[in-house]
Amino acid sequence: MGDASADIKHIAIIMDGNGRWAKQRGLPRQAGHERGVEALRRTVRACQGLSLQHLTVFSFSSENWKRPAAEISSLFSLLRLYVQQDLKKLAQDGVKVRVLGSRSGLPDDILKLIEKAEGQTAHNTEFNLNIAFNYGSRDELVEASRAIAQRVKTGELQPEDITTDIFSESMWFGEIPDPDLLVRTSGEYRLSNFLLWQIAYSELVFMDCLWPDFGEEHLKDALGIYKCRDRRYGGLTVNETEN
Ligand code: IPE
Ligand code: IPE
Ligand code: MG
Repeated sequence: MGDASADIKHIAIIMDGNGRWAKQRGLPRQAGHERGVEALRRTVRACQGLSLQHLTVFSFSSENWKRPAAEISSLFSLLRLYVQQDLKKLAQDGVKVRVLGSRSGLPDDILKLIEKAEGQTAHNTEFNLNIAFNYGSRDELVEASRAIAQRVKTGELQPEDITTDIFSESMWFGEIPDPDLLVRTSGEYRLSNFLLWQIAYSELVFMDCLWPDFGEEHLKDALGIYKCRDRRYGGLTVNETEN
């Protein structure tokens, strides 16, 4: 992979296009989601081989509740299957698994499975797999605001003590560094309520590939594009500073 990944710690991916992948083949959407899990496995493996520390994947959004009940339940079943089949290996490989999102409305067995996955991998430090599940960025911002307001109410914080750091720390993603790179597959150019706070200075890469087709080559392509970007954070490039 060369040094394309040298300065990149965190990739976030909006795994989109499962339905279209299935439709192109005359298959039910469920088949696209199943192949999407395979793409996730390939991507986790590929990321583990790099110096990356975090992979964050968007697997179910707070707006995906608008889909038919059968599709929602098949997406939940795929999370069940993924955790049941892959948790042991992830734990052995030193992967710390976190599931970020609202816990409300989730079936009890899913809640238990999330607890199990997080509990069994809590002490791992090799690599971080962050699964955004039942996640919506606006919900996350509202929950963070509530938590901060509560601290102000109890007198632990004064309104003037509220900083961007306090806000960041109050998020579900509080402990996780901001993504360096956000990739969205399937040729859509939107964020769909994903990590709006955290991607303030992330590089964005939109790819036409449908998620079930995604693999190491696509990851390399995205990292190659990232490597050519000049992250200025509002400042100047090194050369300009010297002039
Ligand atoms: C992404 O694929 C998976 C989820 C949103 C859960 P889609 O199901 O959105 O696939 P398209 O966008 O309809 O092709
Ligand atoms: C975003 O994809 C959510 C996930 C990939 C889990 P969607 O397919 O739900 O987004 P929209 O509806 O096209 O914006
Ligand atoms: Mg979609």
